[in-house]
Amino acid sequence: MKQKPTMEILGTGRAVPDRILTNKDLEQIVDTSDEWIITRTGIRERHIANPGEPLSTLVVKAAERALTDAGVAPEEIDLIILGTVTGDSKFPATACVVQELIGAVNAAAFDISAACSGFLYGMQIAESMMLHGGYRRILLVGGEVLSSMVNWQDRDTCVLFGDGAGAVVLGPSHGEKGILSTYIKSDGSFRNLLYSPGCGSLNPPTPENVGQMLHTIRMEGREVFRHAVTSMSDALNQALDKAGLQADDLSLLIPHQANLRIIEAVGKRFHAPADKVYVNVDRYGNTSAASIPIAIDEARETGRISSGSLVGMVTFGAGFTWAAAIVQF
Ligand code: UT7
Repeated sequence: MKQKPTMEILGTGRAVPDRILTNKDLEQIVDTSDEWIITRTGIRERHIANPGEPLSTLVVKAAERALTDAGVAPEEIDLIILGTVTGDSKFPATACVVQELIGAVNAAAFDISAACSGFLYGMQIAESMMLHGGYRRILLVGGEVLSSMVNWQDRDTCVLFGDGAGAVVLGPSHGEKGILSTYIKSDGSFRNLLYSPGCGSLNPPTPENVGQMLHTIRMEGREVFRHAVTSMSDALNQALDKAGLQADDLSLLIPHQANLRIIEAVGKRFHAPADKVYVNVDRYGNTSAASIPIAIDEARETGRISSGSLVGMVTFGAGFTWAAAIVQF
């Protein structure tokens, strides 16, 4: 039996930098090839922020588009939640920067750090805050400028990531439409398989630490891959169970866009035909917390999501963290 939803998506928006970095461009930077990147990841190009284009620039654009789509004025927003690990600066929260830039003068604003799971973690937080905190218009955003922490000499990681932001405006649900279930989980014992060791209180940004590139991304790709498939499958099962639904009920599955082989493996586990599994990793690479909200906005724009669509969303990222949600449009 379907759950009665607390909140629904009133509008969506996305923004990516204009600058595109193709696999061919990367061939000029590191020892890689277009063929290797496409075969192993499915990525063909990614958008990369220009210098002077911080995260807040992308988030503001995505947020303003979502507000327009929802027909909600900035002053009506009472809460801003931003999932990111690449804020404009260590503090304050980039959500506060965004609050000022969009004129959401009546909002509380904060960032959450759950890496690629940031958007779906934020969705569960938004749901509780609407249910128990009385918030009525919530701006939930996932955004990253991961290019700012990529080691451009490390071919294992630099080919994978892209920049962007995706936003949704959430409001109370008055009918069947809305967030039917959310599920979040973590396992910190795997934190050293995907992480950035530097520039925190453990390894402050001294010239030595920065010289050793401790501020950049480290990843054991093969291990992360294995856990991603298992944990995403688990999360989607949990979210389906909570909503009293089966995988077959879904009209679209939006998996985190990290690697086409992971996306296909997850789709296969749920016997989802290819046309029911959303893929845009070829054009964006892995945009971490932005990946799912960018896909939602694109899928609405292109008619892959319309009124009546039942959509499963599932993600996995550093921490490890993983999460899923079932949404009735
Ligand atoms: O967003 C959070 C979740 N993140 C993920 O889900 C990422 C998960 N992991 C992956 O997507 C994949 O593991 C990668 C795409 C990162 C790597 O693919 P793989 O098939 O697991 O390759 P590998 O790491 O096992 O490396 C295979 C070979 C190695 O060479 P040897 O040791 O076999 O000679 C690598 O050095 O490919 C080499 N290699 C490359 N070659 C050309 C690694 N990166 C590159 C590259 N270009 N960019």
